[in-house]
Amino acid sequence: MQTLIQDIDILTPEAQASCETVKVSVETSTGKARKLYIESYGCQMNFSDSEIVASIMHEGGFDTTASEENADLIFLNTCAIRDNAEQKIRHRLQHLNGLKKRKPSLMIGVLGCMAERLKIKLIEEEKVVDLVAGPDAYRDLPNLVSEVDGGQKAMNVFLSRDETYADIAPVRLNSNGVSAFVSIMRGCDNMCSFCVVPFTRGRERSRNPHSIVDEVKDLFAKGYREVTLLGQNVDSYLWSSNPDVISILGEKKAVKQGADLTGVEIINFANLLEMVAQVSPLVRVRYSTSHPKDMTDDVLHVMAKYDNICKYIHLPAQSGNSRILELMNRGYTRETYLDRIRAIREILGNDCGISMDLIAGFCTETDAEHQDTLSLMQEVKYDFGYMFYYSERPNTPAEKRLKDDISLEVKKKRLAEIIALQMEHSLERNRLDVGKTFKVLIEGTSKRSEDQHMGRNTANKVVIFPRSDKHQKGDYVMVKVYDCSAATLFGELV
Ligand code: SAH
Ligand code: SF4
Ligand code: F3S
Repeated sequence: MQTLIQDIDILTPEAQASCETVKVSVETSTGKARKLYIESYGCQMNFSDSEIVASIMHEGGFDTTASEENADLIFLNTCAIRDNAEQKIRHRLQHLNGLKKRKPSLMIGVLGCMAERLKIKLIEEEKVVDLVAGPDAYRDLPNLVSEVDGGQKAMNVFLSRDETYADIAPVRLNSNGVSAFVSIMRGCDNMCSFCVVPFTRGRERSRNPHSIVDEVKDLFAKGYREVTLLGQNVDSYLWSSNPDVISILGEKKAVKQGADLTGVEIINFANLLEMVAQVSPLVRVRYSTSHPKDMTDDVLHVMAKYDNICKYIHLPAQSGNSRILELMNRGYTRETYLDRIRAIREILGNDCGISMDLIAGFCTETDAEHQDTLSLMQEVKYDFGYMFYYSERPNTPAEKRLKDDISLEVKKKRLAEIIALQMEHSLERNRLDVGKTFKVLIEGTSKRSEDQHMGRNTANKVVIFPRSDKHQKGDYVMVKVYDCSAATLFGELV
């Protein structure tokens, strides 16, 4: 239990899929000569990237397979966010070493954030690895594979300032055919002191909004009914038809400095959200992740205006104490964070789902400061959360400037307290839903029983209800909730 605690990141099994768990690829048989097995770790951005990789590799002569035994090529799309994320990959590589001994022609590639962080070291330290590619190098994968075919090890870890893979139609690997991830931006410019992402994913850049809308239209035509727009900080999404003006200055500064913006199309996140919501009222729109320092009331008003934009916000807090937030370089205080919560409640009401990320035991955190995190949770009453203890990452600002001085024991104790309190709050929040009727989008069969359907309501709560032959996945149904646990609502069709 103790050693596993960092893996209890979230409360619902369905949502668990979005955090450091593995997703493997599906079978696509279009008669290509070779087979790729791809496994994704980490956040939704990685799952979304694997779909881009599958598309690029398809052009490069590979179908995907759901079985590692059948594969000619295995890609692990990796995460570097916490040490245990990387340990998982090391273990997988050991296992793959055994597989490769039995099948020497097998090629093994490591992609994603751990690849970008470790670069050549990964090839030096893990003999089984043939190929290393960072998040901005995926177009180069077919060439890298050819190099390995020619008997060499291959690597490309260049980060780009403008790569968004906007023109690549993802092969939907992880999908239930109802919901899909759509990347709207890449990279991150925030430099939170604990975080590796700015180093593994490079500078922030926003994808052309018209290509985003086209992708959503295409998904709708193929029967999809829910899209999740993805970015590390969606609130700083900003695209302009004249990139020189905006990418250098930012919209506000450009206006302030009197740059000539006539005829220049400028799209911020509120604008983009509205464009996507207008694709069809039948397509639900979700997004992740919001940043408390950048979330505007405009975004909340657009959410209120459209029924099909889900009333759910993931608003990571990281800590409830302003001194710790400052050390984390998060760009907000406890008070300004709570002001954003107030805005959500005012504009979207008490039913809007709110979730968080929290880190226990960051450098120099005192017991009193940890209590501030618990009291922040009491004030907000989150619906659920992803909770971690601090894991120092090499070369981050925190590693360079601060001391990781909280013992593992204390970190784990604080985390356990945070998780226990969140369990209480999740149950309390779910109880408020008992007796209410929700519009639920059916995502499939419940994992626990063939006789039950599983879907979610607008607030991102998992709802389980008896299946009826009249309905199938992708349908909207009205469900009245009669009971709940901390993780799930149980209901009947009405
Ligand atoms: N862009 C998102 C977060 C992406 S990483 C945001 O700004 O909120 C997902 C979560 O992992 C973070 O919110 C944070 O809670 C956690 N995390 C990141 N680095 C960590 C570290 N070094 N140790 C423990 N948790 C970390
Ligand atoms: Fe990391 Fe901060 Fe960027 Fe999130 S906003 S990805 S925590 S640097
Ligand atoms: Fe992990 Fe990279 Fe995502 S470090 S959390 S896979 S951006």
